[in-house]
Amino acid sequence: MPSLKDRGFIHPTPSDITPRAVYEGRRELLKGLLAGGALMALGAPGRAQTPHGAKLPGGKSAVDGAMTMEKPTSFDDITAYNNFYEFGTDKSDPARNAGKLVTRPWTVAIEGAVKKPKVYDLDELLKLAPLEERIYRLRCVEGWSMVIPWVGYSLAELIKRVEPMGNAKYVEFVTLADAKQMPYVGSRVLEWPYVEGLRLDEAMHPLALLAFGLYGEVLPNQNGAPVRMVLPWKYGFKSAKSIVKIRFVEKQPATAWVKAAGYEYGFYSNVNPNVDHPRWSQATERRIGEPGGLFAKRRQTLMFNGYESQVGQLYAGMDLKKFF
Ligand code: MTE
Repeated sequence: MPSLKDRGFIHPTPSDITPRAVYEGRRELLKGLLAGGALMALGAPGRAQTPHGAKLPGGKSAVDGAMTMEKPTSFDDITAYNNFYEFGTDKSDPARNAGKLVTRPWTVAIEGAVKKPKVYDLDELLKLAPLEERIYRLRCVEGWSMVIPWVGYSLAELIKRVEPMGNAKYVEFVTLADAKQMPYVGSRVLEWPYVEGLRLDEAMHPLALLAFGLYGEVLPNQNGAPVRMVLPWKYGFKSAKSIVKIRFVEKQPATAWVKAAGYEYGFYSNVNPNVDHPRWSQATERRIGEPGGLFAKRRQTLMFNGYESQVGQLYAGMDLKKFF
């Protein structure tokens, strides 16, 4: 089958996808309108305020690396600046378009090479293990980062209960693709559903989080409600949102981004400042929400996004230029 590129699709570069200046400009415009009292008359264009959701507190985590000491990004920035291509490619599209996504009832099917396949109801999943708060850095492949206080538990808790078989070498995450609710499903941006994958040992790492909330509340839809993965040592796109299926398989899954542009986005996609994206450097990053916007000083990106002492061993002996 021809790739998306062969079919004439040119993948957007970070600068094609809402330049921050445009976004910042919109915010400035909005502030100006607010100050001038014009907002009401215009019907609140631009950045929509995300309503707060039901409380979902998490307890203290004992997982090494779970609590970065860095200041969390604001709730407003975390919920207004998103990638969720099912709802559009502009950073503000998910907040604008995901509001009506129906997240209950919701089930997650565990399939493939496991002794105990099962379709979990969301409420059952929520009770499967104690919910913890984890404050993780998130580094997007596009060169921006955030610090997010998630609520969830290690995916390993679920994996242990379904008992993977000897031939389960990889885990595949399949996410919702419902064109009725998601305006970009059916577009040529990616192949749908959005699929991601991990090696089983990566998926079993205690930092690999199955997340249900952030800031002590259920996940806002644009952040992947009602359940998503969070892999703090990998680029953000590995962390699949709105998961409906988790499959245990023998072969490396064909993931959405590898299918769309495998020469740019590898299966591993570990945060690595020494391996550039073919079109841009990965050495530095811009922290969303910091004063100065586009002109704020960029930070050095850390190996494995700063989680090297926890996850480095998973990749011992691997050529990370080859397995990017
Ligand atoms: N999951 C789905 N289903 N669809 C997507 O487009 N985008 C990914 C990832 N998970 C994406 C997804 C990308 S590129 C990033 S950076 C993170 O979600 C963003 O998560 P956040 O919006 O909560 O910061």
